[in-house]
This record gives sequence, structure tokens and C-alpha cells, in this order.
Amino acid sequence: MTLTRRVRIARKTIEAQDICSFELVAADGGALPAFTAGAHVDVHLADSLVRPYSLCNHPSETHRYLIAVLREPASRGGSAAMHALREGQEITISAPRNHFGLVRDAQAHLLLAGGIGITPMLAMAEQLAAEGAAFELHYCTRSADRTAFTQYLRAADFAPRVRFHHDAGPATQTLDIAALVERPWPGKHLYVCGPAGFMEAVLSAARSAGWAESTLHREYFAGTVTATDSDGAFDVQLASSGVLIRVAADQSVVAALAAAGVQVPVSCEQGVCGTCVTRVLDGTPEHRDLFLTDEEHARGDCFTPCCSRALSPRLVLDL
Ligand code: FES
Repeated sequence: MTLTRRVRIARKTIEAQDICSFELVAADGGALPAFTAGAHVDVHLADSLVRPYSLCNHPSETHRYLIAVLREPASRGGSAAMHALREGQEITISAPRNHFGLVRDAQAHLLLAGGIGITPMLAMAEQLAAEGAAFELHYCTRSADRTAFTQYLRAADFAPRVRFHHDAGPATQTLDIAALVERPWPGKHLYVCGPAGFMEAVLSAARSAGWAESTLHREYFAGTVTATDSDGAFDVQLASSGVLIRVAADQSVVAALAAAGVQVPVSCEQGVCGTCVTRVLDGTPEHRDLFLTDEEHARGDCFTPCCSRALSPRLVLDL
């Protein structure tokens, strides 16, 4: 069971075109749980509408959380609902969780943000600067008016380590990914967050340049995988009771479980946040998420039931 708490929107700020930030404080006026750079909270917008947002403020702060939200034209409801919120309103959030933490013994950190992917990087940059760590932050956006937190980054102590890149700007300032990643060395770690295309471009350039997989860290905001016409039905079995549950061709495992009275916590429902990860004790999952690593996919002992399916007729779940 995920712990939740009520918070009040102390401030809502337009940070750039289609991007608002929200400063959240505890509704009871107390301190908020501590977090580490790269962490996110799940915001509960309605009964079945829960969305993860990265915390962008300095991780040493417990009097507030800062999140920022891009209004997505193809929103499934989350970003539009967030943008409709007003200062003074109360909302429910989860405790912070971190699947995108900094590597503590790294000797250098290369932070690459695309668009709203800047949010976890802000907390990372703050923490690394406070620790005197070696890092640089590259921030790629379409144009200056779509670039959130510009003033904040220009005024930060670590401003000399930040580079802005706009797709619509002169070629001399656009990001040359291949040049940036061409010299990996042991102890240097790369972190990337942003749109899927940007992330794939960075990760494939890094792999081609010889970066070890263990030095590449990523967090996706939105999944790219969807149901296909060839999806078939299969069964999932609860290991605790032996109960067999049918998953229809057009149904997610999470939905089939919920219909049978078994609730699995979810947040993104797109295979990017890891909230729903469930252990698989038997059978072969068909992974459709962007959260688990290739190694975890190959092991097949866990999967994301919000979007992944089965290659075998039955999956036995640790539920
Ligand atoms: Fe986010 Fe399944 S709910 S990965």
C-alpha cells in the first residue's frame, strides 16, 4: 500500500509555453518526506487518474516540493487536469520514489534533458553542485519560449555548467550528440530524460561510442507501445490462491485483475514509471515497457502488467 498525503498548491507559475510549475506544501503545515535527486511523486487527480511527476527542487528541502507539467496535446487527461488546478487547492500525492538516482561513486555526470525532461535534472544539478561533483547539463528544447526554468538556471551557482540548445536556433548551438558522447571513460555516467525520440538518439549514440550499459541511466515520461490487432487472450494465475484469471485480447492485465477484485497499484499505465512491476513466477512475459532494463526483460521474472502481456498461455504472478 502506497502512503499518500494531502498537499496544498502554494504557488502555480507559468514557466514556459504550455508548462506550469506547482509548488506543493503539506496541507497540515508540517515537513514533507525527504527525497533524493531523480525522485518523483504520484499525483492523484481522480480515482483512476494518477500521474508521476519528478521533483525539481533542491533535495535538501522538506518544506516544499516543486513539480512542473507540460500540457500535452495528446493528453490522456493527466496534464490537462494538472493545468486546470489553481493555487490554494489541495491534492493527494504519494511519498517520493526514485528509479532514477545519481550514482554515488561516479566521478563525473553528464546530464541530458529534452524539453520537460529537465525536471529531474534540476534536482540532480542542485545536488551535484552542493556536493562539488563534476557535471555538465545540456538542456535541449524546441525554442526559447518553450524552455522552462531559464531564469532559474541562468542565475544558479552552477550556471556555467549549463548549456541551452534550441532546435529552432542557429546550427552552432544545437546539440551535437555524437560529439558530446564520443569519449566515455570509466567513472563517467550519463543520465537522459525527455521525449522518447531524443532519448533513443542519445542512448544509441552513447552505445555506439562504447559507453557501458551500466553507465547509462534513463527515465521515460511516456510509453510508445500500444495494443496491436494481433494481441491474444491469455491467463494469469495468482500464486497465493491458485485462482486463474482470463485476460481478454483487448484488456490489460491490470484491468483483468481489477475486474477480479485484485488491485495492482498503477501510475503512468504506459510502462514507464515502474509502479506496477509484479514478479512472475512461471510463464513468459511479453514486455512492452520502457522501465525495466534489457537484462530484466531477458530474465523474465518480473513485468509491468499495465501494458505488458504474455508469450506463454499462462503467467503465474506473485500475487
Ligand atoms: Fe507505470 Fe505500469 S503503471 S509502469
